[in-house]
Amino acid sequence: MTNLVIGGSGLVGYEFYRQKKDNYKFTYKSQKINSFIELDATCFEETKKLINKLSPEIVIVTAAMPDVNKCEIEKELAFKTNVGIIENIIKCLSKKSKIVFFSSDYVFDGNSGPYSEKDKTNPINYYGELKVSCERKIINSGIKHLIIRTTGIFGWEMARKNFFYRVFDTLSSGKELFVPNDQFGNPTYVKDLVSTIEKMLNQDCEGIYNVVGEEWIARDNFARNIAKSFGLNDTLIIGKPTKYFKNIAPRPLKAGLRSDKIRKLGISIKSMDQAFEDMKNRKSIDDRYT
Ligand SMILES: NC(=O)c1ccc[n+]([C@@H]2O[C@H](COP(=O)([O-])OP(=O)(O)OC[C@H]3O[C@@H](n4cnc5c(N)ncnc54)[C@H](OP(=O)(O)O)[C@@H]3O)[C@@H](O)[C@H]2O)c1
Repeated sequence: MTNLVIGGSGLVGYEFYRQKKDNYKFTYKSQKINSFIELDATCFEETKKLINKLSPEIVIVTAAMPDVNKCEIEKELAFKTNVGIIENIIKCLSKKSKIVFFSSDYVFDGNSGPYSEKDKTNPINYYGELKVSCERKIINSGIKHLIIRTTGIFGWEMARKNFFYRVFDTLSSGKELFVPNDQFGNPTYVKDLVSTIEKMLNQDCEGIYNVVGEEWIARDNFARNIAKSFGLNDTLIIGKPTKYFKNIAPRPLKAGLRSDKIRKLGISIKSMDQAFEDMKNRKSIDDRYT
């Protein structure tokens, strides 16, 4: 039986390709990658056709619109691309399949993080509301599921859009970087995230699990750690309170997640510094994406 990654061209999806290309088929929507299947998962007929053809046992859904401010502005598109995609996929899956969905610490209000899987959700922005809605739809569908809550994913990426690149590119060009000093979370290395999920799938885990890096730190200090590890000038990093940035979508401040539940499975995630060392060993950009 085939397994499928819907959203293979994104940060997390492509890491599945790097680690497990023989185990899955992969889709893309706009970033064409040879051998990947084109799919707009907001289209029910297209999604149904592909799922019927492959009859996948495991469907990993990384396809989403994860831009928090864009979700707040373009609510209709955000709903369609987050909740709509999940609705389409669960309608097409048989009860024998398992869906893996990526949720976020933004399901919480950020008053008392880091949060465990048992804490009550209370999103304060539209992206968080959509994640809660997706989680509920999946749980109520009766389909076997693994809901992974994670946060602050970093690593090498074709689109160069994760926070790591903002720090790396800005400081490399000698410019100042203004970063929130009151938003706390757990930076999570994409390679560790994916290898952890693979271990969890091998153990047939089901339900909601937090999968995050161990360190719970403020954004500006995360940026300083990147700078130190990659030999960049950390004095260019200027910490400012969240209100300084005038974000369209409110941000949970004391967010982040606790990883006690995955530790009970005997799974531990490497430290941030180990992750940076691993990134350095991933050589040239071409090696990273071939
Ligand atoms: N990044 C984080 O820090 C973070 C934190 C917590 C949770 N998450 C969640 O983790 C998941 C993966 O995030 P990511 O950072 O890997 O996202 P990403 O890099 O933005 O990738 C999104 C993927 O979705 C695909 N996609 C978008 N619209 C689609 C559509 N209509 N039909 C089919 N595919 C579509 C994109 O395809 P194309 O690029 O080809 O258009 C891309 O492959 C998301 O659910 C996100 O909310 C992320």
